[in-house]
Amino acid sequence: MQKYMESTQRPELGVRRTAGFRWRHTLRVLAAAREIGKAEGANLDIVEMAALLHDVAKLDQRCDQVHHAVLGSEIARDFLHQLGLSPEMVDRIAEAVRYHSFDTHCDGLALETLVLKDADRLDEVGALGVIAAAVRAGRQDMDYRHCLAYGLEDLQNLKAVPFYTASGRKIFAQRLRFMASFWEQARAELAGEKIFSGKNAPDGA
Ligand SMILES: [Fe+2]
Ligand SMILES: [Fe+2]
Repeated sequence: MQKYMESTQRPELGVRRTAGFRWRHTLRVLAAAREIGKAEGANLDIVEMAALLHDVAKLDQRCDQVHHAVLGSEIARDFLHQLGLSPEMVDRIAEAVRYHSFDTHCDGLALETLVLKDADRLDEVGALGVIAAAVRAGRQDMDYRHCLAYGLEDLQNLKAVPFYTASGRKIFAQRLRFMASFWEQARAELAGEKIFSGKNAPDGA
């Protein structure tokens, strides 16, 4: 997977188009998918392999024409076939890769596919969601105040993202709370309000 991504990366298009960036995203999705999959009683062999493969085509130039989830499921199918997996396992893993994206969603998906979708979405939420919003704001040369407005708008948009498992929704809610408190703190600091009090007071405050 990592090697395939390296063979298709286009670093000249920015850090998000490097194999290293995509691979680290893949590993975070794998960790979240394991956690959710365990809690939901999903088949972890399918969940883990699908998580590792889900964005294999993300950097492939052919994705200018075809969705990375669709191309990725074809690449996954070939790879899994070569590994000697049963046709049923190949089908189930390929399904998860094919439908993991928001754009390729449809009804009646298997639990393992829903676990992967939730794990993938979670990578945009929480502390990393705050960093991602700040990085995007920085690319547009926003000052702190505009970054806050951008972050709050991003938070509102995230609230509309669908999650499909109880465990995914639970982690999502925790991470949203963190983001809301972060941006609230930023708002307070920008307003020049007195934010430290009681036991939180720094020395000399
Ligand atoms: Fe994806
Ligand atoms: Fe992804």
